[in-house]
Amino acid sequence: MQNLSDVLASSSTPEKLKAVLTVTTETCIAISDALKQGSLAGILGMAGNENVQGEEQKKLDVISNDMLKDALFACPAVRAIASEEEDYIVPANTDGEYFIAFDPLDGSSNIDINAMVGTIFSIYHQTGNSPAVEADFLIPGKEQVAAGYVLYGPSTMLVLTTGNGVNMFTYDPTKQIFTLTNENIQVPEETQEFAINMSNQRFWSDSIQSYINELIKGKDGSRDKDFNMRWVAAMVGDVHRILCRGGIFLYPWDNKDPAKPGKLRLMYEANPMAMLLEQAGGKAHTHTQRILDIQPEAIHQRVAVVLGAANEVDKCLSY
Ligand code: AHG
Ligand code: MN
Ligand code: MN
Ligand code: MN
Repeated sequence: MQNLSDVLASSSTPEKLKAVLTVTTETCIAISDALKQGSLAGILGMAGNENVQGEEQKKLDVISNDMLKDALFACPAVRAIASEEEDYIVPANTDGEYFIAFDPLDGSSNIDINAMVGTIFSIYHQTGNSPAVEADFLIPGKEQVAAGYVLYGPSTMLVLTTGNGVNMFTYDPTKQIFTLTNENIQVPEETQEFAINMSNQRFWSDSIQSYINELIKGKDGSRDKDFNMRWVAAMVGDVHRILCRGGIFLYPWDNKDPAKPGKLRLMYEANPMAMLLEQAGGKAHTHTQRILDIQPEAIHQRVAVVLGAANEVDKCLSY
């Protein structure tokens, strides 16, 4: 069986990118080990601070952020990092060639109920002669050289693309390596499963209201099939389900807070997931455009997200 280093060695992945991926995934193994200790390690509960987006930080948001930040800092190939839990980009090595944006712990509201969480990362090649500044990294998602996530579920899995399809690896605790378990993932074009936070319904636009109403009506409405609904409440878990068996995931624009054009963050949630979905034959859009084409304006920018089965995403956008 092939493991992560075999797969990276047999692909044309540059050595320095391999180094960044190795540091990132090894740190995720350490995060996974910490999560397995749960209450025993005293790492559950609130940290007592807010992040730059006004969210209450969990202890594990802070711990996983610090672990990734420290490890990536020590990697000479890293030029700078951006994280959900850091107000500003953090320059690392001026000579480094890679910029990494990450969500150290996605789905942190699931931590205290022992449910699925994950780490999401997005990598760009970016060089310069002076320490990195935020403007250097406002690069559209289509320029990502690698993207992926590590899912901390019943097993720990790495899902990765370096631009040649999507591979899934399962962490083998006996050997402490990621083993390739699903190659070249493809998302079916059609689906009968959707994921959305229904409690936001009254805040949605008229078009999302009509689209979801038709899914719920199924064969009794305008569709030729009935739909089922699933919601993990961690984007990483919902996207993983879609990569495994198809579906559509929506976190649309709503008027709950008119200042926010969506809940999810472009650079470390939407872009890496959009690259994975497109590499697997799916689609990822806002209500108006392809996510990977968006010119970012800020590191913590939010966007509306509709992603998954290609034909169903088209159908949704046709509303
Ligand atoms: P994070 O835990 O990194 O802040 O992200 C949470 C996100 C995403 O994972 C999920 O899809 C969404 O928030 C769920 O939010 P609500 O339960 O508020 O709808
Ligand atoms: Mn958060
Ligand atoms: Mn998140
Ligand atoms: Mn997070």
